[in-house]
Amino acid sequence: MSTVASDVTGMLGSQAQARIHAAYNDGIVRQFVIMTIVWGVVGMLVGVIIAAQLAWPALNFDVPWLTYSRLRPLHTNAVIFAFGGSALFASSYHIVQRTCHVRLFSDRLAALTFWGWQLVIVLAAITLPLGITQGKEYAELEWPIDLLIAVVWVAYAVVFFGTIALRKVRHIYVANWFFAAYIVTIAVLHIVNNIAIPVSLTKSYIVYSGVVDAMVQWWYGHNAVGFFLTAAFLGMMYYFVPKQAGRPIYSYRLSIVHFWALISIYMWAGPHHLHYTTLPDWAQSLGVVFSLILLAPSWGGMINGIMTLSGAWHKLRTDPILKFLIVSLSFYGMSTFEGPMMSIKTVNALSHYTDWTIGHVHSGALGWVAFMTIGSMYALLPKLYGRERMWSLRLIDIHFWIATIGVVLYVAAMWIAGVMQGLMWRAVNDDGTLTYTFVEALAATHPFYVVRLLGGSLFLVGMLIMVYNTVRTIQGSMIPADTPIPQAA
Ligand code: HEM
Ligand code: HEM
Repeated sequence: MSTVASDVTGMLGSQAQARIHAAYNDGIVRQFVIMTIVWGVVGMLVGVIIAAQLAWPALNFDVPWLTYSRLRPLHTNAVIFAFGGSALFASSYHIVQRTCHVRLFSDRLAALTFWGWQLVIVLAAITLPLGITQGKEYAELEWPIDLLIAVVWVAYAVVFFGTIALRKVRHIYVANWFFAAYIVTIAVLHIVNNIAIPVSLTKSYIVYSGVVDAMVQWWYGHNAVGFFLTAAFLGMMYYFVPKQAGRPIYSYRLSIVHFWALISIYMWAGPHHLHYTTLPDWAQSLGVVFSLILLAPSWGGMINGIMTLSGAWHKLRTDPILKFLIVSLSFYGMSTFEGPMMSIKTVNALSHYTDWTIGHVHSGALGWVAFMTIGSMYALLPKLYGRERMWSLRLIDIHFWIATIGVVLYVAAMWIAGVMQGLMWRAVNDDGTLTYTFVEALAATHPFYVVRLLGGSLFLVGMLIMVYNTVRTIQGSMIPADTPIPQAA
């Protein structure tokens, strides 16, 4: 039975609804939703700045804390952990309450996760521009902040699993399975990858060295993608897509197979980040094999989400939120096809070190993660503030189109630039000398960096439109009759 279908709140009268609202902790969800949008704007603004710096390096103005090397980790931390993380806290807290028909296990612990997580983000925003870093990608934060993350995460686990334990419905809806896997896995990854010996408050040395360090780092890095940026957002997808489409999930059985296959296969694919290194060859091949197998569960999830719309395709014409969700799934399908291809060693020989990787990252990060987040937040916001809908559906539609053009420009520019770089770097003359100097390849890349900047800026403009629409929705003003969304002919 689909819990989304059995989520009865929509069918109750207003008095009963008011009781239910009192029974759920929506305050914490509201806080995280607002911060999702705030950090989305901040993180993407930093993304736009570093994109501009790659096109025109002088834009760091010779100020140390504005240099690319310091702002880049600020961008990745802000978009992944601040924007994505806040969205995941918001949606997991909302979904676990609605599908278990029970209030969060502990309001106090939930509040601790909110303030603790915001503190982590603020500390990251201070330390990274100052150059304080462990030097491990996606795990740059120094040991005191790592300890704080661990505390917040344990509190998160207690709130989430405590709520599951208190549930009034026997069945545990599949979205919660994905959230559960992500919470447990991220705890393990974070702790193992960050074991370090502190030498001062702002400096520590990781206990691993050499190739073991590299392997632990990419076991972490890849599974951060797999569980933070994928499994958890699939949890979001399994709730908001059926909800917004007004239909039960296409196949509940497929969702269970998808879940177990995804979480057991992801763990082994990390070595594809270390091709042609001193990592033993068998481990690299293992990474290739598991990456290729990963295509199956990934596409199983995508198909399950998209087919949920069967019989309701017409809704795509009029519902811009559904457009965000479905296009997100399409990007998920695309990036999870591209990833296995890039993991094949001969393909990786061309793509590694080039902007192709950056294109792949952002088709996943903007196309899948950000689109899913934006669609889900638009679906959540009016409910949280007791409004019938967002202030303007037309603005959501405009946001959708601007964001779509933005992501396509970004990703296409990086794909072309990446393949071009790979081909230029490996081109050799008859006498064995290189055909192109590195600088020639860089000069050829410049126009594509400008196009990427344009795409990223459009995406940011879309986020600012979201801010405006959100403020008007919260203020409670309503356009009396919202201008209808333009219909396809
Ligand atoms: C306006 C939107 C965005 C812009 C303009 C932007 C721009 C950039 C730029 C210029 C880089 C550095 C590329 C390089 O080193 O060559 C980068 C890296 C990265 N960005 Fe974004 N970004 C945006 C949104 C996002 C979002 C929403 C996410 C995640 C949810 C994200 C995740 C990442 C990651 C993981 C990297 C590191 C990639 C790697 O090391 O291979 N970005 N971004
Ligand atoms: C079946 C699924 C996927 C597979 C097999 C896969 C595979 C790969 C491969 C082979 C690379 C290049 C490694 C290198 O040359 O250094 C890569 C990089 C990356 N992928 Fe994926 N990918 C998948 C899905 C995704 C998704 C959905 C996202 C985002 C939401 C994502 C985010 C990233 C990031 C952030 C990197 C850059 C890591 C870094 O070097 O900093 N991937 N992936």
